[in-house]
Amino acid sequence: MTYVLMKVLESAPSRYDKGIRLLTRGGVDAAYDWLCGHVQPGQRALDIGCGTGALALRAARLGADVVGIDVNPQMLALARAQAERQGLAEKVTWQEKGVAELGEEADAAFDVIMSGLCFSELTPDERHYTLEQARRLLRSGGLLLLADETRPRDVGRRVLHVLIRLPLVLLTYFLTQTTTHALPDAPAMLREAGFEIDEVRFNRLHDFVAIVARNP
Ligand SMILES: C[S@@+](CC[C@H](N)C(=O)[O-])C[C@H]1O[C@@H](n2cnc3c(N)ncnc32)[C@H](O)[C@@H]1O
Repeated sequence: MTYVLMKVLESAPSRYDKGIRLLTRGGVDAAYDWLCGHVQPGQRALDIGCGTGALALRAARLGADVVGIDVNPQMLALARAQAERQGLAEKVTWQEKGVAELGEEADAAFDVIMSGLCFSELTPDERHYTLEQARRLLRSGGLLLLADETRPRDVGRRVLHVLIRLPLVLLTYFLTQTTTHALPDAPAMLREAGFEIDEVRFNRLHDFVAIVARNP
């Protein structure tokens, strides 16, 4: 529910990591640890919208060779510095580029594609294109590990979600003139793109989802 405030944190990248932990009370960390439990040593992994490297660095620590892409150079600078501090600089390549440039990568170049809290910042067309590219870039049987803000499906939680989210959306827009778009139905979105869903985990309010999906 506090995920929209992440736009505020993104505009001050040095506070981003601490802020996320505070806002989600460790929820994002737990979801990312669970997702990265599916990464194997030696695998080639891509982190889309890597930010300060939360997923990319976890995968690198597990022995994967990672490419992290992001449009925000300040976030990437922090990611690079963390990788160096953690002795992981050799395991991750950071690239300043957006999802629109995914077409440059080779077919089946990755065993795993990860993305945390980035899809909610993309337009529906960008999401569609990114998933199309993810299917092309993943080898057959490769995993898409996605965590993001989503809209609860049942009415009670949805009403609560809207009530809590609205003032945060307004505050975020006031501070940054930007907003995020909670994914309407993340598992359905991945199924429509041709992925098979292996596992889905929601938080208590069902407004944050972590999904393990497979490229058939
Ligand atoms: C909320 S942050 C999440 C960062 C990181 N994945 C994490 O979980 O901490 C969203 C990130 O997506 C990046 N982003 C937004 N639009 C993008 C695009 N079109 N292509 C690549 N990255 C993008 C932003 O720059 C930002 O770093």
